[in-house]
Amino acid sequence: MRDSFGREIDYLRVSVTDRCNLRCIYCMPPDGVEWKPHAGILSFEELTALCAVFAELGIRKVKVTGGEPLVRRGLPSFIAALKRTAGIEQVTLTTNGLLLGEHLPALLDAGLDAVNISLDTLDPVTFGRITRYPYHTENGAPANKALEQILSALRSASSAGLRVKVNCVPIAGVNEEDILPLAALARELPIAVRFIELMPLGRAASFEGLNALEILSRISEGGVFAPINNGDSSGVENRVLGNGPAVYYAAHGWQGQIGIIAAISRGFCERCNRLRLSADGYLSPCLSSASKTPLRALVRGGDERGLPVSRIPAARKDAILETIRAVIFAKPQSHSFSGIYNIKTEHSDKTMWNIGG
Ligand code: 5AD
Ligand code: SF4
Repeated sequence: MRDSFGREIDYLRVSVTDRCNLRCIYCMPPDGVEWKPHAGILSFEELTALCAVFAELGIRKVKVTGGEPLVRRGLPSFIAALKRTAGIEQVTLTTNGLLLGEHLPALLDAGLDAVNISLDTLDPVTFGRITRYPYHTENGAPANKALEQILSALRSASSAGLRVKVNCVPIAGVNEEDILPLAALARELPIAVRFIELMPLGRAASFEGLNALEILSRISEGGVFAPINNGDSSGVENRVLGNGPAVYYAAHGWQGQIGIIAAISRGFCERCNRLRLSADGYLSPCLSSASKTPLRALVRGGDERGLPVSRIPAARKDAILETIRAVIFAKPQSHSFSGIYNIKTEHSDKTMWNIGG
């Protein structure tokens, strides 16, 4: 379905949990967050039924996010159920990679199409500093193990034929020196290493992200990169890989690509194709918008006990369709990150752990 600015909305990001086994400094408070009560979280049956309704409105791609989606038990079966849903053509996963190795065989069996691994550094000490892993200790050794685990899962996923992207958020004074080593993962591996401009959401507002030009200048120390051209030499139309707003670059002899997501400095709202659903069933039309529309009560027909629903009765479905249409229609033209600064406290619910990036 198209929104009021003519954008085709075919991509839904579904957060399945607000929990995470890491505590990244720009995302979570040190002690984690107060988890949403279990009954408020949509069951996988409810989420699958809801995604089938979204598919009727033209959603073709679903990204499963968190928090950390793999901490929720039964995730591979949920992915398999989404893959069986009429209209859904592509199901992908965003993860911090810690549990990826363990679940990889089940995820492959489920038919997962691609995986995005969030990884901000290859240095164990910096890893510990950013993710606070293992919480409250200064010792780099266990973080070393965690990093090995993530990298080994990344390699296995790639060699199993899964499309792999690495996402790094460069932060001034924190992981600037990690940009080049992370980018170099794409030299030997056929993966996309992407750098995302820090968005001033929640706790991230107290850090300073690097902008696309600064990121590119660091990467260019590793090779001569040219934009992957999509028939347009301006470089703006190069979004040829994946469903999102990244601009990709390639270098001779490199197996993979480098991607830059210039959320702030360039912006890409004019091409935005997505909606976001939180684990407790709120639908948001935009990362920056304060608007969120509750769908849970509609799915449950007013029964808040959260009975398992595998197929939504027709009357409820009509109400849900109408509500989703209204949200799509009200999707703002562009993000207003200035507004986000006003709600940047930890208590703000506009944070990555609950909207899933
Ligand atoms: N700005 C940009 N990216 C962020 N992520 C988390 N918080 C922010 C932020 N404030 C990234 C994570 C992950 C993806 C889901 O979003 O690092 O890669
Ligand atoms: Fe967890 Fe991702 Fe937030 Fe880090 S950025 S704490 S991995 S949800």
